[in-house]
Amino acid sequence: MQRRQFLKSAIATGTGLIILPSGSLLGASSPGNKLNIALIGVWGRAHAYTNSIKNENIVALCDVDANHLAEAAQRFPGAKLYKDWRKCLEQKDIDAVMIATPDFSHAFIANWAMNRGYHVYCEKPLANTVEEARVVRAKYLQNKHKLACQTGTQRHANPNFNRVRELIKDGAIGELSTVQAWGNRQIPKPGYLPAQGTPPSTLDYDLWIGPVPYHPYNPEYFTGGPGANCLKWNMYWDFGSGQVGDMGSHTIDLAWNAIDAGLPTSAEGEGDPFNPEVTPVKLKTTFDHPANDWRPAIKVYWYQGGAMPPSPKGYVDLNKIGHGVMFKGSQGWLVSDFSNRLILPRGESSDMSYYDRRGKDEMLPDVGDFIQEWITACKGDLKTSCDFKYGGDAIEQMLLGLVAYRVGKKLDYNGTTGRVTNSAEANALLGKEYRPGWTLEG
Ligand SMILES: NC(=O)c1ccc[n+]([C@@H]2O[C@H](COP(=O)([O-])OP(=O)(O)OC[C@H]3O[C@@H](n4cnc5c(N)ncnc54)[C@H](O)[C@@H]3O)[C@@H](O)[C@H]2O)c1
Repeated sequence: MQRRQFLKSAIATGTGLIILPSGSLLGASSPGNKLNIALIGVWGRAHAYTNSIKNENIVALCDVDANHLAEAAQRFPGAKLYKDWRKCLEQKDIDAVMIATPDFSHAFIANWAMNRGYHVYCEKPLANTVEEARVVRAKYLQNKHKLACQTGTQRHANPNFNRVRELIKDGAIGELSTVQAWGNRQIPKPGYLPAQGTPPSTLDYDLWIGPVPYHPYNPEYFTGGPGANCLKWNMYWDFGSGQVGDMGSHTIDLAWNAIDAGLPTSAEGEGDPFNPEVTPVKLKTTFDHPANDWRPAIKVYWYQGGAMPPSPKGYVDLNKIGHGVMFKGSQGWLVSDFSNRLILPRGESSDMSYYDRRGKDEMLPDVGDFIQEWITACKGDLKTSCDFKYGGDAIEQMLLGLVAYRVGKKLDYNGTTGRVTNSAEANALLGKEYRPGWTLEG
């Protein structure tokens, strides 16, 4: 019997278990106990986890860069060290895995970890293709009765996210019709970097490439500095999805939290001329979402790299908001960045008397520390605010938009089957070929 199943049945049958030292039998399943965490990708973004995980057991560290691994080993003495995440995941005492590697390995590591019964915290973007998003979400849904999973969109914990949700759901701008999200980051590149030099002996470049087609080493892929190195590789198709998965993951989360959307029924995209090596800087994608039980059908838009929604009034300059969302309803607009919002009632007739403001005691509770929410979920009710259904749907839509951009026509999408119903060309772009020996299912 698996350790966690044993514990659950022991609790269910009232067997008088006693609390054991951390890292032993009880593991994640008891609030008083520590989680045994494997940290995969230990530098850069992973530094941001330090405070939230300081009371847990870090039992394994994995990184393809020996210098990064050595630095982390000093912070977490006692952890076993790996450079290949596939070997790391075989360590037997792991309860949970945190993934802060480059985008193109996220779905692989997350899926393999869930296959082994580990809780997962995975950096955004959760996936690099529509197919990867679907595989990870499906695995999570099969296991959600026993696994806690969190997509690493930590801005979600900003109280503003829930304030926006309350305003939209309570009808502060009337009946919702349109949601427009945008980001202004621009990192133009001509193509993959040319071969230059040889990788340092401390870097396993072949493992860094991992599942995706081989591109020769160039030191510039590694010059971004801790937490910003992703900006050196995430614009290339095989390594990332550009701003779609970068700031797009965060910004669409602000919209997603307020609209209770699943998968879109259509996708369209336009932007920079197609470059087979580099994702577009300028891009506008458009999606249809069906009605749900509290709002009508809506259109959702993503704009980036200079494409912008029109301002609701000349005196509201949306360009001054680097990453934002504008909700349009029958009675006005709500414009929001990650931490602030403003409401613009439409014309003289919109007196807001239609809006019944909820009381303080009815406000949605704060998420608190975003990683702590996941840790608590691992030890208890398994509930996280950005689980892999929520995060999987959001990134699937965004990545489908990139497919629509590539095909250059409006795609009709069946979210149940994960197929585009009017373009074989688009269906061929929903997934990608991996290097021999690499599989999402391991
Ligand atoms: N949530 C946020 O606000 C936020 C902020 C920055 C980055 N990120 C995300 O975090 C991820 C990492 O970004 P970064 O800038 O730290 O990147 P990075 O290039 O610095 O990589 C992070 C670490 O992963 C290691 N690594 C690379 N491939 C590996 C592999 N196959 N196995 C094990 N380790 C591997 C690297 O050596 C490095 O130590 C990206 O997906 C990025 O989107 C999220």
